[in-house]
Amino acid sequence: MQSTIPVLEDIDAARVTRQEASGHQRVYLETYGCQMNVSDSEIVASVLQKAGYGLTRDPEQADVVLLNTCAIRENAEQRVRRRLGHFRARKRKRDRHLKIGVLGCMAERLRYKLLEQERLVDVVAGPDAYRDLPRLLDESAETGQSAVNIQLSREETYADIAPVRYGSNGVSAFVSIMRGCDNMCAFCVVPFTRGRERSREADTIVDECQALFEDGYREVTLLGQNVNSYRHGTCSFPDLLNRISLTVPAMRVRYSTSHPKDCSRELLEVHRECPNVCNYIHLPVQHGNSEVLERMRRGYTAEHYRALIARAREICPGVSFSTDIIAGFCGETEAEHQDTLDLMREIRYDYAFTFMYSERPDTYAARKMRDDVPEAVKKHRLTEIIELQNSISLENNQQEIGRIHTVLVEGNSRRSDRQLCGRTDTNKMVIFDRHHYVPGQYVRVRVTGCTSATLLGVPVQAI
Ligand code: 5AD
Ligand code: SF4
Repeated sequence: MQSTIPVLEDIDAARVTRQEASGHQRVYLETYGCQMNVSDSEIVASVLQKAGYGLTRDPEQADVVLLNTCAIRENAEQRVRRRLGHFRARKRKRDRHLKIGVLGCMAERLRYKLLEQERLVDVVAGPDAYRDLPRLLDESAETGQSAVNIQLSREETYADIAPVRYGSNGVSAFVSIMRGCDNMCAFCVVPFTRGRERSREADTIVDECQALFEDGYREVTLLGQNVNSYRHGTCSFPDLLNRISLTVPAMRVRYSTSHPKDCSRELLEVHRECPNVCNYIHLPVQHGNSEVLERMRRGYTAEHYRALIARAREICPGVSFSTDIIAGFCGETEAEHQDTLDLMREIRYDYAFTFMYSERPDTYAARKMRDDVPEAVKKHRLTEIIELQNSISLENNQQEIGRIHTVLVEGNSRRSDRQLCGRTDTNKMVIFDRHHYVPGQYVRVRVTGCTSATLLGVPVQAI
């Protein structure tokens, strides 16, 4: 899920012109990392727009460049540093009025160090400081110095801020429902960068989903670092799903990401009972060996995880699973690695997000364990995991041939405007000829072919 997602957009032309005319500045916003960051960038855009800034998708046109960053692995940070280097060079050589800001997890992790290491950064704002961005930009403009807010909050959920959905396809939207994480997995920097868990008031979430439906959206993905520990007052995560499902019955509902230790029977029953709650669960296992899971401080064993998958398949027949897997965690032996491959063969995920372990400063693993699996071994194990998953994904997709799925059309396929793409309830991407169908429509599609990543189909009828 860690990919560079440049989400850049102009707001409507009239507003931009007005703002330019009134001397207001234009912001270019680039987003790295997880879906939560994409959602946060929509909040940042809203805060800045309200303060009179214009947004631009062209960095060359920008007076302010903001990078919303990710700290989850070393290579994510390196990518941001390279990009920062590019903008700093521009500022130094030909554009000394350019303001550069670093937002999000890297800002939080590196704090003042970022200013020492990356000179010419004007604004540093952590994930709970986005309301303060206009003030930070003003302060740095007035003083000519860097302005910093890396305060984490126990309450901030941005519940009252209407996100500006500038990167969206108009069909599918992210809705943030909780922030932070209290789990403290040994490898993970997120609890340090995003702070303590807190949930957003349920009414505001249901209202946002309803408003999205009225705006033409047909799918929401509820976001949080650990959505199944959502709780606001007496409203639990299964209660929230139920409420959204009943309030907007023609809206598909997905969520990401969840933790196996909190995946309750009640939640599985909501999947079964609510037709618009998708029959798909992203359930990160991280590893297939119980001792490694204990070292990772995940709070479950491989047996517990297997039992959970079996229960889910019993309650929700046909449910699809994806997962996250880390190769080469501290002390991982070849036999332990083989346990991951065995678990994958047994569970047969439809998709896996796979990573090489990357030590993150301050985490439990960095403080107490040795990052002792050689890089080459990590790489080799990761390759084995990826190859196995590709073959399982292909076999799973081949089994779909001949079946009919309801596909929510998202837009043009990447390869051709004559074809559309959309996803099944089970989160598989399907490509089919356009005919007269349009984004936002539900279409029944018969699967006729596949690759390991995509299904190919022919429309049978619209719904
Ligand atoms: N090294 C490698 N992968 C990591 N993840 C989190 N922290 C690390 C790390 N230090 C992975 C986990 C998590 C996903 C979002 O990123 O698999 O579920
Ligand atoms: Fe990180 Fe674990 Fe929290 Fe996920 S549950 S964000 S892996 S600490």
